[in-house]
Amino acid sequence: MSDTCQAKTYDRKTENAAAPLVLLGVTGCIAAYKSCEVLRGLQKAGVRVKVVMTKNACEFVGPTTFRALTHEPVAIDTFGDGPGDPIHHVSLAEECDLFLIAPCTANVLAKMAAGIADDLLSTTALACTAPIAVAPAMNVHMYEAVATRHNMQVLASRGVHFIEPSEGYLACGDVGRGRLADPVDIVASVLGMLGREKDLEGRHVVVTAGPTVEPIDAVRFISNPSTGKMGFAIAESAVERGAEVTLVTGPVSLADVPGAKMVRVGTACEMKTAVDEAFSSADIAVFSAAVSDFRPRTVSDRKLKKGADDDALVHIELVENPDILASCGAAKREGQVVVGFAAETNDVIGNARSKLSRKKADFIVANDVSSGRGFGTDSDEVAFVSASGEEHLPEMGKRELADRILDKALEFLK
Ligand code: CTP
Repeated sequence: MSDTCQAKTYDRKTENAAAPLVLLGVTGCIAAYKSCEVLRGLQKAGVRVKVVMTKNACEFVGPTTFRALTHEPVAIDTFGDGPGDPIHHVSLAEECDLFLIAPCTANVLAKMAAGIADDLLSTTALACTAPIAVAPAMNVHMYEAVATRHNMQVLASRGVHFIEPSEGYLACGDVGRGRLADPVDIVASVLGMLGREKDLEGRHVVVTAGPTVEPIDAVRFISNPSTGKMGFAIAESAVERGAEVTLVTGPVSLADVPGAKMVRVGTACEMKTAVDEAFSSADIAVFSAAVSDFRPRTVSDRKLKKGADDDALVHIELVENPDILASCGAAKREGQVVVGFAAETNDVIGNARSKLSRKKADFIVANDVSSGRGFGTDSDEVAFVSASGEEHLPEMGKRELADRILDKALEFLK
């Protein structure tokens, strides 16, 4: 785990009683061992941590590990031998500044949504009035199940903050969404919530994300491998910082960002129409979408056939798409901040600098995507390129990078 989270404002010593207290809930899931990394990351950032576990979680990681890491008793039983407090769930719920459940199983999510309190962790969740953050981890089919999606929506509508799982190879052998978010991102998200100044309150942030798809015929299209993770992380961070957020995204497999106005589009032209509508009232516009530069001049509404339609399939005439960032950069009025991205394989800074002036952006987030880096990854190493110079950032999770991009945009706004 990288130490980049230390860059946050929490540099207080863990023994400082004024340090915020996070109650870390650990539930029964193979990802429970990653809770130790989350715990260490929070402690390194100066946060005090206490742990509450379900009995099933103890099958995966022993409470001794958490007791050794926190120097605190680990709460498991409502009526067990804990610290002797018969209403332990209430005291735990009352004393914490934030309750983080990581990993959170589908079962515990369901119990929370239904208000079931049948063990110490779920009872504490019900009694908790502090902000609650949940990092789900489960099998892809359980994650996508209608019941789980519904439970998440119910909890999100009650203000529970979700730290979305990532996609990949799952312990059960399936591949898909359901893997616990990277501990670095969980820590960044929690630090963000704890220190969350609503510094974007009253601001409108517009974000573009994902790829665009440009149809050739009824079944074929031109696109690129953008996953939208960066733009979604920016939207998520902006919502948490109090902004009104419009997220215009091409087709991606990410769930809606709670609290953001979602506009899902297909083509670059559709993306431009949606951005044009939102941009006039935007204070900050971040263009992280990988927009297809060209689209087929004609689109067949039926499937083109090999043989009969060879000419149309071999010679696809392309026309240039509108440059959404450049048109907003040109239309930008005083007090609006425009941020572009430049994913480059060579002369990264030189190319970013030329995009900065060509598209009239305030700054460009430049990243090196040679050898497959950047697309679909959970972390990035970028440089901010502006008229006043370059700022190289260390590698960090996309969620933390999102915060840094918005910090930089705020500097321009001020
Ligand atoms: N962009 C845009 N609309 C387009 C093309 C790009 O809004 N039609 C934005 C992207 O969202 C990004 C920036 O412009 O913020 C740079 O995109 P990129 O694809 O790197 O730049 P291009 O101008 O397309 O240049 P090239 O592909 O030749 O590098």
